[in-house]
Amino acid sequence: GLKRREVNVLCLGLDNSGKSTIINHLKPASARVQDIVPTIGFSVEKFSTSSLSFTVFDMSGQGRYRNLWENYYREAQAIIFVIDSGDKLRMVVAMEELDTLLNHPDVKHRRIPILFFANKMDLRDALSSVKVSQLIGLDRIKDKPWHISGSNALTGEGLQEGVEWLQDQIR
Ligand code: GTP
Repeated sequence: GLKRREVNVLCLGLDNSGKSTIINHLKPASARVQDIVPTIGFSVEKFSTSSLSFTVFDMSGQGRYRNLWENYYREAQAIIFVIDSGDKLRMVVAMEELDTLLNHPDVKHRRIPILFFANKMDLRDALSSVKVSQLIGLDRIKDKPWHISGSNALTGEGLQEGVEWLQDQIR
């Protein structure tokens, strides 16, 4: 049959932003789990698009585990960075973590595509994806392709658009 190209993706973002819920929704319905719990350390998941087979390292966003992220930068061919659009208080923390990522030697000079999800757009007080991108300063990313999609990981809204963009960056 058709052999899909294998791609390693790193899924990053603060705790509670919705990383595991997003990854769960990208899997075929039969492979999804009912209850998502906070990730301890990291979890390895798989999902496919028409041409690619993604292996996702879904990293815990909790402060005490964030130092694990950098161990996976070198192997990653793409990054998904998730932001909780309703968490205004921690927007600056998300920006700092993005800074650390962008300045890491295993990321800095690579043309690695970064897909941002401005997640939880269903929340009544959620910021728009334009506002999120301003607050975390995405326009400073000059040497990598990036894209931001508003998403609702509970319904799946916005996820496909983002993943299609990522697929186009990789082939
Ligand atoms: P860590 O594993 O701690 O890093 O968290 P995570 O980023 O993987 O978040 P997780 O997927 O566990 O989701 C955290 C909470 O947010 C859960 O209660 C989810 O149901 C909820 N959630 C995720 N996405 C959305 C969304 O788009 N809208 C709403 N309203 N809730 C969401």
